[in-house]
Amino acid sequence: MSDLSKAWTYALGERAVKRLGYGAMQLAGPHVFGPPKDRDRAVAVLREAVAIGVDHIDTSDFYGPHVTNQIIREALHPYPDDLVIVTKIGAKRGPDASWQPAFSADDLTRAVHDNLHNLGLDALDVVNLRIMFDARGPAEGSIAAPLAVLADLQRQGLVRQIGLSNVTARQVAEGRGIAPIVCVQNAYNLAHREDDALVDELAAAGIAYVPFFPLGGFNPLQSMTLSRVAERLGATPMQVALAWLLRRSPNILLIPGTSSVEHLRENVAAADITLPDDAMAELNRITTASDAD
Ligand SMILES: NC(=O)c1ccc[n+]([C@@H]2O[C@H](COP(=O)([O-])OP(=O)(O)OC[C@H]3O[C@@H](n4cnc5c(N)ncnc54)[C@H](OP(=O)(O)O)[C@@H]3O)[C@@H](O)[C@H]2O)c1
Repeated sequence: MSDLSKAWTYALGERAVKRLGYGAMQLAGPHVFGPPKDRDRAVAVLREAVAIGVDHIDTSDFYGPHVTNQIIREALHPYPDDLVIVTKIGAKRGPDASWQPAFSADDLTRAVHDNLHNLGLDALDVVNLRIMFDARGPAEGSIAAPLAVLADLQRQGLVRQIGLSNVTARQVAEGRGIAPIVCVQNAYNLAHREDDALVDELAAAGIAYVPFFPLGGFNPLQSMTLSRVAERLGATPMQVALAWLLRRSPNILLIPGTSSVEHLRENVAAADITLPDDAMAELNRITTASDAD
């Protein structure tokens, strides 16, 4: 089993983290709403993540809502010094589990305070401003107003570093003119590579790119090519999907999500896999259109 002790790191602003981290969204109940069926299991996943060397956890107070952060606090507080917890603001949940925009100054300020309270922190390591998106991806539009609010919360000392999520390249450029941006979190994986150019642009600027849905999200990736390569390498398809991202660009930080200790261990062990060139070339031919090849 991998313990990540030798895993490569990349800068998340002023904090370097191992390139294989953990995304906590799957710890809330169905539809990322309400408590999980098995809270003890959720606590066990988080404790195991830290025990095997994970030092980067992605969360939000709108997971649950509140539930995921409360479980993180129960499992891990007081937090290890090297643990970086990244959260996000810009949405709130309706009573029907819907996701609603929350970009007013009051919404954003409340969200930062909710994260601080539920995580049990005086300051948040990294806060991503999450812009709305739909099945077509992020929508264009100025992010100046909500980002200025977040920058003000940073000046107040409640937020150490700022990231952006669900953004276009133009919004990243606009954001970088308003505040230092340490990471961008967008949907990206082996089969959905709309952000290829943005990944490279951010790498050149020394900014971390943190793909969400690295395994395909709620419906994990399925592809005969992926399975074939995995079998040849003696790995699982999910491990190969993560190893592809690790090799794709050095600024990619992974936050695969799982509610299972077994899947967590399997995913973390992907840090030990270096994909050979022929496997990369084969996997690079997977696209959304040829998913079922
Ligand atoms: N910024 C945003 O708008 C945004 C949106 C979505 C997510 N995120 C963040 O990104 C993180 C990662 O995304 P995600 O969790 O939605 O998607 P993901 O990591 O691509 O995939 C999670 C799914 O894969 C399954 N899975 C995980 N490991 C597996 C394995 N080894 N074998 C088989 N199945 C496996 C999980 O089920 P099990 O629980 O059964 O393992 C779950 O259904 C989230 O946790 C969240 O922190 C951000």
